[in-house]
Amino acid sequence: MDKIPECLIHPVSIKLLRQGHPWITADTFSSRFPRQSEFVIATDERKRPMALLMHDPYHKNIKARVWSTKLPFDREAQHFTVSIQARLDLAFEKRIQAKELRERENYYLAFGEADQLPGLFILRLRDRILIQFYTSLWVRYKSIIVTTIQEVFPEIKDENFWFQLRGETKELQKLPQNALDQNRRDEFHLEEFGVQYLIRLGSTYDQGLYTDMSSVRHALGKLVTPGMKVLNLYSYTGAFSLWALKQGAGRVVSVDLSPKYIEWLQNNLALNPVLDHTRHEAIVKSTDQALADLRGQKEIFDLIICDPPSSSSDGSKRTSAIKAYRELLIKMDPLLVKGAKCVLFLNTHQVTQEKFDKTLKEYLTELKLDYKLSTRLQLGEDCPTLKGFPEGNYLKGVVLEKQ
Ligand SMILES: C[S@@+](CC[C@H](N)C(=O)[O-])C[C@H]1O[C@@H](n2cnc3c(N)ncnc32)[C@H](O)[C@@H]1O
Repeated sequence: MDKIPECLIHPVSIKLLRQGHPWITADTFSSRFPRQSEFVIATDERKRPMALLMHDPYHKNIKARVWSTKLPFDREAQHFTVSIQARLDLAFEKRIQAKELRERENYYLAFGEADQLPGLFILRLRDRILIQFYTSLWVRYKSIIVTTIQEVFPEIKDENFWFQLRGETKELQKLPQNALDQNRRDEFHLEEFGVQYLIRLGSTYDQGLYTDMSSVRHALGKLVTPGMKVLNLYSYTGAFSLWALKQGAGRVVSVDLSPKYIEWLQNNLALNPVLDHTRHEAIVKSTDQALADLRGQKEIFDLIICDPPSSSSDGSKRTSAIKAYRELLIKMDPLLVKGAKCVLFLNTHQVTQEKFDKTLKEYLTELKLDYKLSTRLQLGEDCPTLKGFPEGNYLKGVVLEKQ
């Protein structure tokens, strides 16, 4: 193996790396990393080696990811493929041991940086495996990854492996790329907590079910009591709605702007004949419009679930979800009875849980709305987070209880 180049990194990167942050972003220092080098050794201002980095010159923002902070780094690089296998095995073992995952056919087998596999995410979707590369470096190690998975899970057939190149790498494609051919499509269903969901692989990046929200769904199930009226805003394909029906909700209203996702939701319902479909209503409308209409119809709910996109545009200006929550609280409040709950999600690393809590409290005070912040919700057992790495801790939720 060629000698690995040693490169000084930006003073801010030095500080962040010491705090456990695993990325080197684009700056005047990282732009000087030798382009052809697969690995780079990051050094501090005194030329001391700090970390072995996986180099990704093609990525727009993340130019390198920490592979190891264990010296000697040349040996760490020589053992790279063996370490990939060892780290994968460890990640799989954790999931096999996790009792919580036994009620789900969908879970992460590896969750990137927090499993010491930077930029590599592996999902199990029933008997399929979806591998997501957020750095193109992994593409070269595809067969090692597949072999390691099949050693632990021999039941997974070659044709059931799916690959996606994700993230902001210029050379990565806009459309999902699949293992065998680009026009390959797959449609199947899987079970999560006794509910069936339709999954589509190949055609788009959105499979139809957010696996990273699965443990949150499980937690939310406890908030639904038989007969309850539930409003699911930004419902997507209806995972929360079906789960609420499964818990015995008396009425569930799902709202999404997209006819495609509402149709998908109807397909999901059709897969679950045991659920009482007459208790469900789907509304294809903007949340704003739906909330206004429901208020006009004097509808009242015991639970509102609100999971907006992290930012949205009305054509002229962009609004972040955290800003949108002020208006949403005003509009949701008249639909909630005393003692009712609303669950508010925020899907961005840019706002911490503390900031989210604080902002909501400020809105509530300003609007003179009397709510108690109770449970906090976050990524669960198969989606670990890493200290010093806020980008990996993007999902936060708060349960508000109307006083
Ligand atoms: C983050 S996804 C929600 C995921 C969903 N809660 C789940 O767990 O499966 C956001 C959804 O919001 C919908 N959406 C975006 N803007 C909207 C709007 N103004 N009104 C209603 N739905 C909207 C999108 O179509 C998308 O399905």
